[in-house]
Amino acid sequence: MRSRVRSGVVAAIAVGLLAAAVVPAGAAQGQSSRPAPGGSGAGDAYFPFAGNSGYDAVHYDLDVRYQPPAPAPAPLTGRLDAVATVTIVPTRHLTSFNLDLRGLDVESVIVKNRPAEFTREGDELIVTPKTILPRGKAVDVVVTYGGATGRPVDIEGALYGWVTTRDGAMVASEPDGSMTWFPVSDHPTDKATYEVAVAVPAGLVAVGNGDLVGSATAGGWTTWEWASREPMASYLVTASVGNYELRQTTTPGGLPLIDAIDRDLAPAASAGLAQTAEMIALFETEFGPYPFSSYGAIVDDDSVGYALETQTRPIYSRNASEGTVAHELAHQWLGNSVSPARWQDIWLNEGWASYAEWLWSEHDGRTTAAENFADVMAIPATSSFWQTVIADPGPLGLFAGAVYDRGAATLYALRLEIGEDAFGALSREWPARYKDSAATTDDFQALAEELSGQDLEEFFDVWVWTAGKPAVP
Ligand code: ARG
Ligand code: ZN
Repeated sequence: MRSRVRSGVVAAIAVGLLAAAVVPAGAAQGQSSRPAPGGSGAGDAYFPFAGNSGYDAVHYDLDVRYQPPAPAPAPLTGRLDAVATVTIVPTRHLTSFNLDLRGLDVESVIVKNRPAEFTREGDELIVTPKTILPRGKAVDVVVTYGGATGRPVDIEGALYGWVTTRDGAMVASEPDGSMTWFPVSDHPTDKATYEVAVAVPAGLVAVGNGDLVGSATAGGWTTWEWASREPMASYLVTASVGNYELRQTTTPGGLPLIDAIDRDLAPAASAGLAQTAEMIALFETEFGPYPFSSYGAIVDDDSVGYALETQTRPIYSRNASEGTVAHELAHQWLGNSVSPARWQDIWLNEGWASYAEWLWSEHDGRTTAAENFADVMAIPATSSFWQTVIADPGPLGLFAGAVYDRGAATLYALRLEIGEDAFGALSREWPARYKDSAATTDDFQALAEELSGQDLEEFFDVWVWTAGKPAVP
């Protein structure tokens, strides 16, 4: 086996050298089967170093031990020590490959049970195994690492990633913050399943995504184990630590709900969760079956300044308001099951989730979707609101108001354009067709055209690809 691989490699190198003489290097590299280093990015124009190329990450097993900060006035820094086992499947013969990791110290990297060489360059951890990794053959990469935790910020200056709090950590990583706490292929096109075990001082709770496998206390530490059996984009991974009360219930439809509510919050802070089961029922009629095996909320008494739709278990800063609860729930279908293939496609997340808030409001007997749409269309054409090109808002415009509100208005206008039946079919088929996957604005337009039988080039051109206020269809 080994010698066959070797001789194949030698032949491939010879062909590669020959090819390199006559065609551009890039073209030769894309096609060649000769072993080569993996790349440092997934090809995202907004975040070129997010994700990596040359392999698919299929599973993460994270074993984390976390000591939160001492009481004030001690500095707001914790200590994280972890072993990450990342199962990767090479998509070409690899001589080396990259993971994304920001900060923290790497102690060792083991590939196929043998120590591998590694270097750090910016946010890249570059691993060179002892032997070539053949295409298609899954291998485990074991990274032992750790260090002091802080309060990382994204390119806009907003807190994200592993955000150290006095009683633990708030972990919210959109778009590329997971690399602040584990080695990862940090791009939504590279989804994987996860098993996450977090050991924290007894009395604290670590809350992850998916199902609670169990918890066990020994020697003053409690280990909380969580499993996400459905694939998840890296920005949706959480492992928040705090003084939480866990509330486990089941919806009338039989879905397990696990809420983690900070004990230091007043009851009003989580009152917005009360109608979660009814919201799930409404969105199942709109968007199809709930896509995951459990749900719930994390309401922390600390704040990163926003909520995030962390998969199966959104996280809220200090207060889970009813509208936001509806919004984060809708993201489970729209953003989490079908994710943006490129960060410029973010309006597909935020437009749909904002539109779903309108649906909930109407269902609950308050402002109708038509009224919410009219409110957006009442914004004067001269307002800077209309200057955002929502299908390409720029890396600093990911969370611009227009991505949300013009995004929602675009979907409502599309409903007017193609009619109730086609739009209803689209609302269910979009998360179904791209379940556990990622897709672009063009994929969405193509599906809308397929289901409506209409040419929507002009509509998409005006509503998502062009600045300026569109006319109501
Ligand atoms: N996706 C989140 C939501 O709409 C918002 C995340 C905002 N992030 C930020 N860095 N501002 O629910
Ligand atoms: Zn959102």
